[in-house]
Order: sequence, then structure tokens, then C-alpha cells
Amino acid sequence: MTNVRLAAIARRGIVPGDMEKIRAIIIREHGEPQAVAKIDTIDLPAPAVGEVRVRVKFSPINPADINVLEGKYPIRPELPGTPGVEGVGVVEECGAGVSSFVEGDVVLLPHRFGAWREAGNADATDLVKIAAGVPLEQAAMLRINPATALVMLRDFVTLQPGEWIAQNAANSAVGRCVIRLARHFGWRTVNVVRRADLVDELRAEGGDMVLVEGEKISAEIKSATGGAAIRLALNAVGGDSATRIAGALAPGGSIVTYGAMARQPLRVPNGQLIFQDIGWRGFWITRWYERAGETAAAALLTELAALAADGVIATPVEAAYSLDRIAEALAHAQRPQRGGKVLLRCS
Ligand SMILES: NC(=O)c1ccc[n+]([C@@H]2O[C@H](COP(=O)([O-])OP(=O)(O)OC[C@H]3O[C@@H](n4cnc5c(N)ncnc54)[C@H](OP(=O)(O)O)[C@@H]3O)[C@@H](O)[C@H]2O)c1
Repeated sequence: MTNVRLAAIARRGIVPGDMEKIRAIIIREHGEPQAVAKIDTIDLPAPAVGEVRVRVKFSPINPADINVLEGKYPIRPELPGTPGVEGVGVVEECGAGVSSFVEGDVVLLPHRFGAWREAGNADATDLVKIAAGVPLEQAAMLRINPATALVMLRDFVTLQPGEWIAQNAANSAVGRCVIRLARHFGWRTVNVVRRADLVDELRAEGGDMVLVEGEKISAEIKSATGGAAIRLALNAVGGDSATRIAGALAPGGSIVTYGAMARQPLRVPNGQLIFQDIGWRGFWITRWYERAGETAAAALLTELAALAADGVIATPVEAAYSLDRIAEALAHAQRPQRGGKVLLRCS
């Protein structure tokens, strides 16, 4: 047993081989989020060979987590299980055979770890160590939304300096990352929101144009961008909003759907396909991680961590709740017109 491991065990007052009691959010069924997510105490064994014990610090409540609780997300934990798609923690103890981490390292938790818990064990190969300098709250949110924004900006269209990107739900966490990353890499954004009070805020965030959703938004986007040939639109809303931003694309352009906040089906006008050759595409970061493999995923997350350390990306946080206030946290996360993410402060 390593000295690091013995010291960690001594500090927590547990006998080697014993289970540690930790608190975690457990769901036993799917349904209304506040009704099904309960705090409970569970046993956590010592990390096995190749595993690392991580004390979880922060994890956000993302729309996908709400869908998981409702049973509406394609991938969800086996029941009973712990939700929490992403988060950040601090290495507390290394199992035998682990030499790549030391106590105190800050690590991003593996995709779909079940992060709403005080602590957990993860395979060392699934953890990504990040440099000091990234605030823990920001680190907790890197794996899903900033990653989605950066991959969508790079993988569908090879954007040239100064090119325009159109997007809806522009004040969402993903939308704000798109704005900041586009500004950083030299692209321009025309941003659609559903409330006028966000216009100045998103301009200050770096959005070149910020428009309020409406029936004439296609024409307004074209006018705001001086008739530029827009080749990429990002859609997190669905329904009419998606049809309208696709209507602002240049022939041959692509609209990438990554969210469906309005819970309305897409409506694709025949003419957009036949006469405009608009490509309607979809993106899911879970599939990207599956296909990319560990090395590419770690490279992406390391790049994002550096951007966060430099302040290029920063996601506003509206509130952080301890695990025992899970019902309040979930209610807050589902409120419209939030000013930022709701986080769980896990330990
Ligand atoms: N495909 C992927 O891999 C992937 C990855 C990350 C995120 N996503 C999806 O991207 C979307 C945004 O996620 P996020 O975490 O960035 O969101 P978020 O920060 O929680 O913000 C939610 C956004 O949705 C807007 N919104 C809510 N209901 C709406 C409606 N009925 N019509 C139009 N807009 C509505 C909100 O506008 P107000 O502020 O005005 O309420 C806000 O801009 C979600 O659908 C999420 O599931 C997908």
C-alpha cells in the first residue's frame, strides 16, 4: 500500500478494506426530477487496482441531467443509480498500479460518471488532469457545453477568418461559449435570443449581433450581417426557430441541431433542401467522445482548460447548492430566464 494511500486512509479514520460511507444522489425510478432524486448514504470501497478515489467538488445540473431524471435521455444510469454527467474533483487516493496521479490533482470526471456524489472511484485512464488556474466551478462544466461549442465550430464547416455563424438560444451555456470561442478564433456571431433584455449582455460577452426571436428573423439575420454568406447555423431550440435560422443560411450551408429546448419537432421546408441544398445535421457530444477515444478527448479538454484558465471561456453560475438541497437545486435549474448555471457543491 502506498504512503499516499495510507495517509489518506488514516486521515479519514477508516480501516483498510473497510467501506467508506459517502452521500450521493440516488434515483430509483424516473419521473418528475424533484420527486425522484433523493440524497442517500452509500458504501464506497477502497479504490481497486488501476482506480483513483476522487473527492467530487462541483457538478452542474444540465438540461441533459433533467432529461435523465425524467427517463427521456437515450443513455441513463441503471436503477438505482447516481445522475450527474460531468464534474470536477480532487484526487484523494490512488489504487495499486496508479502512478499518473498524486493526491491533490484536480481532475475532470469521466463522461457519465454519476457525479452527484461526495466521492467515487474511477479508472485512472478515464480521468483528465487539469492544470491549476482553472476555477473549480468552471472546470466542472468543461466536458459538455464548451466541448460541444468548440467541436461544432470546427467539425462541420471549415470557417474562414471573419465568417459569420448564426445561432439560437445564444444565452445558453453552449451559446455563450460559441460567442466567446468565435471571438477568440476570429469568427463573427449573429445571435438569436427570446428576450430583449439579453441584447446588451450578449454584446458585452462578444456577440457581434444579437437579435430577438420573431417571424422575420431570417431576414433580420441577413440584414444584420450585410447579406454575408453564412455557412453554419447552430440550433438548440427546434420548431420554427430552427427553420428560421436555417432560412438565413447561404446555399450549401449547414444547420447543426444539438438541442431541442422548445420540445417541438423540426420542420424542414422542401425548398431549403431542393433549391438551397441546406444540410440539416445533428451533433451529440456523447457520440463524439465515444468515437474520438481517450487521447483526442484529453487533448480537447486540456485545450478547453487552458482557454478557461486564460478567461477566454467562462460560464456564468447563478447558484451552487449542497447535495442535501437537491430538490431546490433541481427546481432552480428548471427555471426559465436564469442568469447562469446551477451547480451542486458535492463535498
Ligand atoms: N447535443 C449535445 O451534445 C449537447 C451538448 C450540450 C448541450 N446540449 C443541449 O443544448 C441545449 C442548451 O444547453 P445548455 O446547458 O447550454 O443550456 P442552459 O445554459 O441551461 O440554457 C438553456 C437555454 O435554453 C433556452 N430555452 C429554454 N426553453 C426554451 C424554449 N422553450 N424556447 C427557446 N429557448 C428556450 C433558455 O432561454 P431563457 O434564458 O430565455 O430561458 C436558455 O437560453 C440543451 O438543449 C442541451 O440539452 C446538447
